[in-house]
Amino acid sequence: MNFTLKIWRQQNRTSKGKFIEYQAINISPDMSFLEMLDAVNRDLTKKSEDNIAFDHDCREGICGSCGLFINGRAHGPQRGVTTCELRMRHFVDGTTITVEPWRSRAFPVIKDLVVDRTAFERIIQAGGYVSVDTGSAPEASSIPVPKANADEAMDAAACIGCGACAAACKNSSPMLFLSAKVSQFALLPQGNAERRIRVQQMVKQMDEDGFGLCSNTYACEVECPKKISVVHIARMNREFLRAKFL
Ligand code: FES
Repeated sequence: MNFTLKIWRQQNRTSKGKFIEYQAINISPDMSFLEMLDAVNRDLTKKSEDNIAFDHDCREGICGSCGLFINGRAHGPQRGVTTCELRMRHFVDGTTITVEPWRSRAFPVIKDLVVDRTAFERIIQAGGYVSVDTGSAPEASSIPVPKANADEAMDAAACIGCGACAAACKNSSPMLFLSAKVSQFALLPQGNAERRIRVQQMVKQMDEDGFGLCSNTYACEVECPKKISVVHIARMNREFLRAKFL
């Protein structure tokens, strides 16, 4: 397969970026999108040209570091996959593919396709933790959890914090991410100790980092590679009101 790539190149946070065209030649349909970018970078290295910077780590859909805007979609055209899991066979041979970094004021570009996502780390630091007693591990069955709650908490915990929700949202709202973190603890007894302060501190940090608010477009749910449901946003809003008034 052969592709023309229009890739966003930007030297650093303050410089002006622009799209530059590259050719991706002899690409295997089974290559991942990142492997295709690796091939393009190998060609650039041979020509002693600056490689395209892009973020990645696990390449297994676990770490959440590989987010790219591909043809105007967060993580590309396939639902429920990260950029590193996306295969080139899902593109039409010979077409042009546009690749951009996440677009959000809270995710400034570091270089080319790499953005600074430490805003999400700050939100987690603000409330994405639980207090535990020191000493020996408690008996496994000493804290009963209803099966339905355990299942829903596990679904929320699938969020990998990639930032696709904020990048896909016209308001740059990260509420799908934030609500998944609030939800996973709100559904479990282990999350009770910080229940009131967690949601308030995380929302406060979200505001301070310049993210927007949710206006129910559901773009986040569509683009989330882990198919996190907006049901968690509703729960987060209830948790917020509960923390304020109860
Ligand atoms: S590189 Fe880790 S999720 Fe894609």
